[in-house]
Amino acid sequence: MTTPTENATAMGADRKGKKMTEQMKTQKTILRALAGEVLPTPPIWMMRQAGRYLPEYRATRAEAGDFLKLCYNPELAAEVTHQPIRRYGFDAAILFADILLVPQALGADLWFVTGEGPRLSTIQSQADFDVLKGKDDIHEVLNPVYETVRILSETLPKETTLIGFAGMPWTVATYMIAGQGTKDQGPAHALKAENTPLFDAVMDRLTAATIEYLSMQIEAGAEVVKLFDSWAGSLKGEDFQKYALEPARVITTELKKRHPGIPVIGFPREAGDGYIGFAKATGVDCVAIDNSVSPEWAAANVQVDGCVQGNLASRHMVTGGQDLVDETRKVVEAFKNGPHIFNLGHGITPDADPENVQLMIDTVRNG
Ligand code: CP3
Repeated sequence: MTTPTENATAMGADRKGKKMTEQMKTQKTILRALAGEVLPTPPIWMMRQAGRYLPEYRATRAEAGDFLKLCYNPELAAEVTHQPIRRYGFDAAILFADILLVPQALGADLWFVTGEGPRLSTIQSQADFDVLKGKDDIHEVLNPVYETVRILSETLPKETTLIGFAGMPWTVATYMIAGQGTKDQGPAHALKAENTPLFDAVMDRLTAATIEYLSMQIEAGAEVVKLFDSWAGSLKGEDFQKYALEPARVITTELKKRHPGIPVIGFPREAGDGYIGFAKATGVDCVAIDNSVSPEWAAANVQVDGCVQGNLASRHMVTGGQDLVDETRKVVEAFKNGPHIFNLGHGITPDADPENVQLMIDTVRNG
C-alpha cells in the first residue's frame, strides 16, 4: 500500500496540471489540501478527537481535576491532544482548549456543570458589559494555552499538522449573553433586536479578542487556524452577512496580514445556502461543512471555490457497521475531484465507540 504522500507524488502534478515543486511534495497533507491540491486520499482528522469517548482522555481529565483545569494545564492539555494522534495517526492535531476560554479571559465567570455543559455570568445590560470591558489583557489568562501550542509544535510527529482555533464572535456571544448553551440562541437574538448598540459592542470586543488570541496561537506554532461558528445557522439573511460572514472576513484578513500565508478554515455550521460563496467573501482557505447538507450538494456548490472539510454524520461513530463504511465512501467519492479534508460534520459524541473511528479511518485510507 502506498501512503497518500507517495500517491500524490506519483501523480506528479496538481489539479491545474502544474508540475509540483519539491516543497509541495514534502509539505504535510493537510497543508497541501488547504493550498488547493487534490490528493488521491484525503487527509483526515476529527472534531473533538480528544474527548470523552476515549478512556485515556477520561483518565487524564481525572488527573487534572476537571475540564477547565485540563484546559489550563499545558502538559496535560498537550497530552490529551497527542492521544488521538498516538491511537489513530490522524493527519492533524487540534489544540486542546475551549472556545469559552476567551469570555473567561475577558472577565466573565465560567464553570462547567458535569452532564449539562458550560455556565457563565450573563450579559443583559451595559453595566454587565462594562465589567468585561475593563479587562484588556486577555493573554494573562490565556498564556497557558499558548504554552500548550509551543509544547505541541515541538512534540507532534513531523507529518502531523497543528490546528489552533477560536469560537467566532456570534457563537461565543450566544453563550456570554445567555450564560449557558441554548437551543435557539433566543437570548442573543433578543439582545440583538432590543439593544443593537450593546450587542454590536459585544461582537466588536469579541472580534478584536479573537484576532489577538489566534495571532498568539500562530506565533506559538499553530500552522492552521479554525474559526468555529457553531450557531451560524440561526442567523438569517442580513444577520448572517453582518454577524457571521463579516466577522469571518475581518478576522481572516487581519490574521493573513499579520501572518502571511496562514491557512484559515471557516465553519459557519448549518449555514445551508450561506456556505455558497463563503470562502470568496471571507478569504478563508477552506469551508468546513456540517451534515445538514449532502456531500454532493457541497461538492457542486462550495468545493467549486476551493478546499472543503467534512462531512460524515457523527452518529456513525456510535452506530458503526456497513452503514458507516457506505457513508464514509460516499463522502470520499463526492469530494474526490477537488481539494478535501475528511472530517465529521460536527464533534464526535461521548457515546461513540473508539473502534468505529478506526473503521472510518481505514475506509478513508484503504477504500
Ligand atoms: O476538537 C477538539 O478535540 C479540540 C478541543 C475542543 C473542545 N471544544 C473541547 C471540549 C474544541 C475545538 C471545542 C470547541 C467548542 N467548545 C465549541 C465549538 C464546536 C462545537 O462543538 O460546536 C463549542 C460550542 C464549545 C463550548 C462547549 N464546550 C460546550 C457547549 C461544552 C459542553 C458540551 C459537551 O460536549 O460536553 C464544552 C465542553 C468540552 N469542550 C468538552 C471537550 C472535550 C467536554 C468536556 C469534558 O471533558 O467534560
